[in-house]
Amino acid sequence: ATTKTVRHFLDISDFDTATLREILKRGRDLKQTNGTAQHPQPFRGLTLATIFEKPSTRTRVSFEVGMRQLGGDVITLTGREIQLGHGETIADTARVLSRFVNVIMIRTDHETKVHEMAGAASIPVINGLTDTSHPCQIMADIMTFEEKRGPIEGRVVCWSGDANNVCQSWIHAAARFGFEMRVAAPASLQPTADTIAWAAREGARLVVTEDPKAAAEGADIVVTDTWVSMHHKDAPARMALLAPFQVNDALMKLASPDAIFMHCLPAHREEEVTSSVIDGPQSVVWDEAENRLHAQKGILAWCLNA
Ligand code: CP
Ligand code: NVA
Repeated sequence: ATTKTVRHFLDISDFDTATLREILKRGRDLKQTNGTAQHPQPFRGLTLATIFEKPSTRTRVSFEVGMRQLGGDVITLTGREIQLGHGETIADTARVLSRFVNVIMIRTDHETKVHEMAGAASIPVINGLTDTSHPCQIMADIMTFEEKRGPIEGRVVCWSGDANNVCQSWIHAAARFGFEMRVAAPASLQPTADTIAWAAREGARLVVTEDPKAAAEGADIVVTDTWVSMHHKDAPARMALLAPFQVNDALMKLASPDAIFMHCLPAHREEEVTSSVIDGPQSVVWDEAENRLHAQKGILAWCLNA
């Protein structure tokens, strides 16, 4: 019997640079023909099941539209509609879905659930966000930076705010794409010791500081995210701790004059970012959101080998 390797997309840290580059290139190529008669339909006859244990706008719409534009079909399962929440194990769900569909995308809380699903599925599993990672987002972000400013290798990325799931995937990307990652966050909301050790082992240039100004100095990208993620319960304490890390005009002025502002969205104006920045000339957030569609087509194509 032949053993088939299933192509999961679980974390940027799982991949080598060449594979990530291959995925991005496919996404860029598919973007070229998007909306034209030349757009290929390699997913004809294939179905994606998406599972959402948390809310979503961009991830849900971009995966559904992307799959359909490439000729495939989609089933979306959310929250209480499915048996996951009623005690059927993740592994059993994975085994059953593997008999009906061709690829699964899951958004959930614990990273271990994504691994449990991938371990039991005989089809590819894609991580659509966990409490600790958001790899699809960062693939779209790299694509966006490179469209605007060229290769990200050797550049400087400043994260100011909560060192959350999105930040963690940025750190993974720093190791794989060769840019410097500076994370400015309050002491209690910084990357974990495990993440810092991982970055050191993998040769990532990671700087962790409590000083957003030092982190922003000369940066090519200033990026942030909500102060209160979907899994956070301590909103008032976080808001107070994170106030000094707001991305505003004063912080943007310290970055390179050519710097772009990025945010995965949804954004909270006048909290983690001022309207002047997110609605200003350096912001690329709408192109960034659109690139979820194109980057994920590259991810789906790689997973499906199609
Ligand atoms: N950026 C992002 O993943 O957005 P959604 O939560 O709307 O999917
Ligand atoms: N950090 C945010 C990202 C949302 C896309 C959250 O987890 O809620």
